[in-house]
Amino acid sequence: MAMSARPRVLITKRIFPEAVEFLERSFDVDYNGTDRVLPSGELIERARGCQAIVSQLTDRLDAGVIAQLEGVRIIANVAVGYDNIDVAAATARGIAVTNTPGVLTETTADFAFALLMAAARRIPEAHAFVHSGQWRTWIIDLLAGQDVYGATLGIFGFGRIGAAVARRGRGFGMRILYCDEQPAPAEVERELEARRVSKEELLRESDFVSLHVPLTPATRHLISRAELALMKPTAILINTARGPVVDEEALVEALERRIIWAAGLDVFENEPAVHPRLLELPNVVLAPHIASASYATRRRMSMMAAENAAAALSGKRPPNLLNPGVWPAEELP
Ligand code: GLV
Repeated sequence: MAMSARPRVLITKRIFPEAVEFLERSFDVDYNGTDRVLPSGELIERARGCQAIVSQLTDRLDAGVIAQLEGVRIIANVAVGYDNIDVAAATARGIAVTNTPGVLTETTADFAFALLMAAARRIPEAHAFVHSGQWRTWIIDLLAGQDVYGATLGIFGFGRIGAAVARRGRGFGMRILYCDEQPAPAEVERELEARRVSKEELLRESDFVSLHVPLTPATRHLISRAELALMKPTAILINTARGPVVDEEALVEALERRIIWAAGLDVFENEPAVHPRLLELPNVVLAPHIASASYATRRRMSMMAAENAAAALSGKRPPNLLNPGVWPAEELP
């Protein structure tokens, strides 16, 4: 192999081509231009000699893997969520970790609202009904659903995406409740007429509950049996955050027994596996983790991760650094 002075980047999985081209202009790139997830052993092997890894949420970069990354300075995840990376382990080894916040906010909020509408008004069932030739006549309660306009929308995690979903809800005349460790800035509360309430109040009062928390030990199974039992029998749960935020077994039971009315799910506990009984239920709308999947947004996410990697490889503090401790503060000119 020819010796090269250029830093080397591993891109673990296919991303938008402009991001690959951008990196290839300055660096040597080992590009897995397929959608196959590299098994840990292969990822570690290919990362040897690389100073940057552009990763995706399907790459499990746990402490065991991170311990074997020699010479890597940055892991640039193409996602806003980063529960696939053990950031503490990376920090301990002086590896910067970055994500892609902001660029996917509106796209993800659009999709959360699409799931909300689809579940409330039974759009997948309606489509299947027409498609399979079952439509004979107008029937008074055919595929009747729940009203969205004027309903109460409860949001867990009132960060960028949660607030963007609330903003859409306001367009539908919805009352906004939220639950977050931190109160939102006063101007955001005012703009959205949003009220911070306890978890119990949110669950009891909301017609729609939408999840926008990161996955952490504290949010794992945030919604389980006890929480579902507090919800209205007409309530609809929307999850575009991370699968393990919901206890999937408890949710299946709640949907089967009509403890709650419906759910819209973009994320699952063991992706890409979906609980088999979820597939049997009419009152759940399922999607394969695509909330941020518009062409423009996925392209921006690809570029943002590439720019984070490039910054680190050029000795600059990456713009979306999650563990600032690993990077010395920028020197003043
Ligand atoms: C996708 O799930 C993301 O975290 O960006």
